[in-house]
Amino acid sequence: MSKTTATESATDKSKLSQTEQHYFTSYDHYGIHEEMLQDTVRTMSYKNAIMRNKSLFKDKIVLDVGCGTGILSMFAAQAGAKHVIGVDMSNIIEMAKVIVEKNGFANKITLIRGKLEDITLPYKKVDIIVSEWMGYFLLYESMMDTVLYARDKYLVEGGLIFPDKCSIHVAGLEDSQYKEQKLGYWENVYGFDYSPFIPLVKKEPLVDTVQNSAVNTTRCKLIEFDLNTVKIEDLAFESEFKLEAKRQDFINGLIAWFDIEFPYEKRKGNTPVYFSTGAHASYTHWKQTVFYFADDLECEIGDILKGKLKCSPNNRNNRDLDIVIDYEFMPKGPGSRQRRVIGQNEYIMQ
Ligand SMILES: C[S@@+](CC[C@H](N)C(=O)[O-])C[C@H]1O[C@@H](n2cnc3c(N)ncnc32)[C@H](O)[C@@H]1O
Repeated sequence: MSKTTATESATDKSKLSQTEQHYFTSYDHYGIHEEMLQDTVRTMSYKNAIMRNKSLFKDKIVLDVGCGTGILSMFAAQAGAKHVIGVDMSNIIEMAKVIVEKNGFANKITLIRGKLEDITLPYKKVDIIVSEWMGYFLLYESMMDTVLYARDKYLVEGGLIFPDKCSIHVAGLEDSQYKEQKLGYWENVYGFDYSPFIPLVKKEPLVDTVQNSAVNTTRCKLIEFDLNTVKIEDLAFESEFKLEAKRQDFINGLIAWFDIEFPYEKRKGNTPVYFSTGAHASYTHWKQTVFYFADDLECEIGDILKGKLKCSPNNRNNRDLDIVIDYEFMPKGPGSRQRRVIGQNEYIMQ
């Protein structure tokens, strides 16, 4: 049943835009899948969410949106699903087919190559959607759009989405040394002035692991999405934040991360599987996202940093994100007037 070949793709890749072709090509190589599979926080969260809730999967039709190597499809089949359909546009689906057959799931899992938006499913409706769609800063790559498309077209009334809750969080951080290294580098490159690069570097959020000890304010939840109800237009958002400094320090920017939660069977002792990609949690390949401010804010304990973050898909490439952060740092106490800063910084995640 799981017969797919590169030539049978429901989508003609050569007709996609250059950016779309590039996006799907980036998932062709096994290396990116190796990194995701080896992210045990990520992969074990999916496994636990599925295997600890087998009763939800038993005899159900499951759609795996962006199945990659087929790992989530196989978890769902193992949990007792009646049938699983895995869909992927990238060449990796050819390997998924081999893996699925080798592990004895050929009769349980059907793999279809193409963009989810272009394929015809062998079932009119599915009971459950599983998908690992999250990008840096949660929304980079905008693959959630595809999951919502699948939900609206295929999910039965009352069907489940794994995962179904996600939220983005921010806090202030001290990172003077690294910030200086990242920007200062361009001032003298082998004796030459490369400073015209600095405005470009400032615009790009940094995806990297941050030591939790660098976080020097309280945390704030920026926004929460419920995949059962959210609409694509809600993914362009503007949210306020308010943070309180926890020590005398400098705030050089914001650190952002996301948290994920899965549906679960409501029975005694059962709790939802959840994971966080914050600096306070175990490493994941999503790391954290840092937005350096143009200003370095000199804070005392209890000082408040308020602001708003606006996020929207980029007009030229909707998988990129335009982000604007307005901030207002109004310290109290000694030297507060000199330390007061109001700023606006623009970023692009690409
Ligand atoms: C983050 S990977 C997850 C792979 C796999 N589910 C796992 O957990 O290891 C996302 C996959 O979704 C696929 N994908 C993204 N958008 C898609 C679309 N619109 N239609 C089909 N596949 C898509 C990509 O090619 C990629 O293999």
